Amino acid sequence: MQESDRISAPEGYHRWYYDQRIWERVHWMGVPCLKSVSDMWNYQEVISRLRPSLIVEFGTRYGGAALYFATIGALVRPGCRVFTVDSDHTDLRPDVRRHPAIETRLGRSTDPGVLERLRALRRNHPGPVFAILDSDHSKRNVLAEMRALRDFLVAGDYLVVEDGNINGHPVLPGWGEGPWEAIQEYFAEYPGDYARDEETEQRFGFTFAPHGFLRRL
Ligand SMILES: C[S@@+](CC[C@H](N)C(=O)[O-])C[C@H]1O[C@@H](n2cnc3c(N)ncnc32)[C@H](O)[C@@H]1O
Repeated sequence: MQESDRISAPEGYHRWYYDQRIWERVHWMGVPCLKSVSDMWNYQEVISRLRPSLIVEFGTRYGGAALYFATIGALVRPGCRVFTVDSDHTDLRPDVRRHPAIETRLGRSTDPGVLERLRALRRNHPGPVFAILDSDHSKRNVLAEMRALRDFLVAGDYLVVEDGNINGHPVLPGWGEGPWEAIQEYFAEYPGDYARDEETEQRFGFTFAPHGFLRRL
């Protein structure tokens, strides 16, 4: 083996966790939550520092992450709302749909009505926003979501762009341009919008959201 073929321990763990689909076996209170567990812990720490009044998720699937965010949100700021959007509610768990702090919406994340609803929620729940992008991971869609949130997120808000690890960063080489490339293009377009929170991103050695922990400036 050549020196250049060696991979670090965190990268080896990352590839194993991803390729063995461990992330499909993660649950929060019995509901599947398709994440790295260390990312979830990191989100808990970000949310407890930020104390958001509104948490926005694009891509709900079963709703495990929405339920997780609602649980943490309620602990750090009573009245915290979770707004989660998905274009397909086939897998959405009834207990998530019925949860009093969670608003589920059926539709595409970039539908104009989504932004309209977000603005109304922000008016009714003033305070910081934590947003997380986890829907269609194509570069085109992620870029469209980031652009859509541009006039919604304000200084101090926090955005996580998930799944920048695909397309060889370091998993799923050859997948095609995805969140990582969307983030690069967004930063080229709007260099002053976000600061990367590298300390948070890197603290557990690997993340499914490389370059994706962003503080709105
Ligand atoms: C990776 S899953 C979300 C997982 C969830 N965030 C979690 O951590 O448990 C991605 C979801 O995005 C949805 N989706 C795909 N394209 C979408 C779009 N344009 N707008 C909204 N949702 C979309 C899919 O239906 C799917 O349920």
